Amino acid sequence: MNELAHISPYADAAHRGAVIALWESAFGYAGAHNAPGFAIDQKVAAADGLFFVALLGGQPVGTIMAGYDGHRGWLYSLAVAAAHRRGGIGTALVRHAEAELATRGCAKINLQVLPANASVTGFYRALGYAVEERVSMGKRLLG
Ligand SMILES: CC(C)(COP(=O)(O)OP(=O)(O)OC[C@H]1O[C@@H](n2cnc3c(N)ncnc32)[C@H](O)[C@@H]1OP(=O)(O)O)[C@@H](O)C(=O)NCCC(=O)NCCS
Repeated sequence: MNELAHISPYADAAHRGAVIALWESAFGYAGAHNAPGFAIDQKVAAADGLFFVALLGGQPVGTIMAGYDGHRGWLYSLAVAAAHRRGGIGTALVRHAEAELATRGCAKINLQVLPANASVTGFYRALGYAVEERVSMGKRLLG
């Protein structure tokens, strides 16, 4: 990994603006249910200690969220700023989240990749993840 980057817990006062800008650039957003500010507020309110940033010179250049429900771990919102990709920061973020989930007793991690972003499976395969034949279902409870 880029030796100048380090992984830190997300701190709203210091990181919010840069994280929103990063997510708008990396993901784009179609609706309010996953608008960056809303997603950040919900995760901060959860206070589960599973939201991390990669910092370069104190500035966020990468993010990852994880979740753990006592059965499975999940990874979300992995992003690295375009100018800092292919330097190992994405790998470091995933490894950091994996280590944190492991300390909580999590035995397996799942994640979802949108069809339009299928090439990113190469990144996850390099980290030991495999495509599993599942039908992914979901239901919105808010707006
Ligand atoms: C996916 C992402 C987080 C990777 O971050 P990164 O810091 O560039 O990743 P790393 O440098 O740790 O990459 C490690 C290895 O993964 C593989 N890899 C990385 N990006 C890849 C891509 N887009 N496609 C295929 N393989 C990729 C490479 O083997 C790479 O090693 P190499 O650079 O020595 O060839 C980054 O490309 C990104 O933010 N993409 C946009 C947001 C996104 O798609 N997030 C995932 C949503 S599921």
